[in-house]
Amino acid sequence: MLKDKVVVLGVTGGIAAYKGVELLRLLTKAGATVHVIMTRSATEFVTPLTFQTLSMNPVHTEIFNLISEQEIGHISLADRADLFIIAPATANVIGKLANGIADDMLTTTVMATKAPVLIAPAMNVNMYQNPIYRENEERLRTHGYLFVEPVRGMLACGWEGEGKLQDPAAIFEAAMAVLTPNDLAGECVLVTAGPTREELDPVRFISNYSSGKMGYAIARAASRRGARVTLVTGPTCLDAPWGVEIVPITSALEMRDAVLERYASSSVVIKAAAVADYRPARRAVDKVKKSDQPETVELVRNPDILAELGANKGGQYLVGFAAETESLLENAAKKLNGKNLDLIVANDVGQTGAGFNVDTNIVRLLFRDGRVEELPLMEKDDVANVILDRVMEGKG
Ligand code: PMT
Repeated sequence: MLKDKVVVLGVTGGIAAYKGVELLRLLTKAGATVHVIMTRSATEFVTPLTFQTLSMNPVHTEIFNLISEQEIGHISLADRADLFIIAPATANVIGKLANGIADDMLTTTVMATKAPVLIAPAMNVNMYQNPIYRENEERLRTHGYLFVEPVRGMLACGWEGEGKLQDPAAIFEAAMAVLTPNDLAGECVLVTAGPTREELDPVRFISNYSSGKMGYAIARAASRRGARVTLVTGPTCLDAPWGVEIVPITSALEMRDAVLERYASSSVVIKAAAVADYRPARRAVDKVKKSDQPETVELVRNPDILAELGANKGGQYLVGFAAETESLLENAAKKLNGKNLDLIVANDVGQTGAGFNVDTNIVRLLFRDGRVEELPLMEKDDVANVILDRVMEGKG
């Protein structure tokens, strides 16, 4: 994902410095080349050797280091960066940057870079609320510096409140959003994901094997590409993609309400959820006992949400999925036409590495004009991006 990207990671002296290590790992795992600059006080919390080992690049701590000035140097590092991240960023370093003070390797390099700078502050709650700090942050914002705001929580100093460094995964997502071209800016993308649960009684339900991975990958990719994304999701164990509005639902009827409410304001709708076609005709108020268990469970049809969207289509670009175990293309084509879709993603869920609860998928894309595009086994993240590419081509 970040192959060919150079990220300079600045780490400053706070107890959250160890979380910089986790962020470094996420960045390198995504393929980025990472150069770390530590302030002197950061080295009191985590050793440079840790960052050096994991980044596989020399760590810079001193501005007048002969080797780094000869081989890389602060200007060269500033020039090579596609993105600069400071995490954690103390009030001190933010204050220096806001006032043009460049007195160490980190502040000098940041001031010399033309790359976007993403700052993840971490500090005591009172420092964070101090009007001088607030002015400094505001000043940097007006100059185009980007911020990943801290979260509320128990702080190392014993106070509780805002000032805790954002989760490294969230900082990573913010970095991805900065580094990904914003070709979906202005689009409002509504995605559905995961299974629905149709309750029989308070402890039992009918459902399916959907993990939500496919739909979450689409929501994450669309958000990184600049869209405003709403994810209507059945129960899953997945972390919410950063920057995405999450609407949790349980049953197909709840999903229908959530989707219809947001349909008019969406420009693209992608329905990756595995919606239960049937629900029990009655839901018992109390747990059904073995003794009074009926021999059969009476089911009623759930509404077909996608068909309803297709029948009421305005300017939306409508994408459905078809999970099939036989006659893949034939069945998918029927759904494409029957539900008035612009594109359907045909998913042969019987194939190894495809469909439910795996990180990869094998799909074919069927378009309104009869074209069929066959994709090989791919990571769901990559499938998501191809779907979004085709949506943007189709929208023209
Ligand atoms: O979540 P994962 O573990 O990552 O698995 C991904 C997936 C296999 C769930 C996904 O790739 C997929 O194929 N999703 C569609 C599953 C499905 O319900 O297919 P279907 O052929 O039954 O439905 C066709 C389309 O109509 C789907 O877009 C579905 O969301 C929609 N539908 C179905 C029934 C219904 N009552 N309302 C609907 O809107």
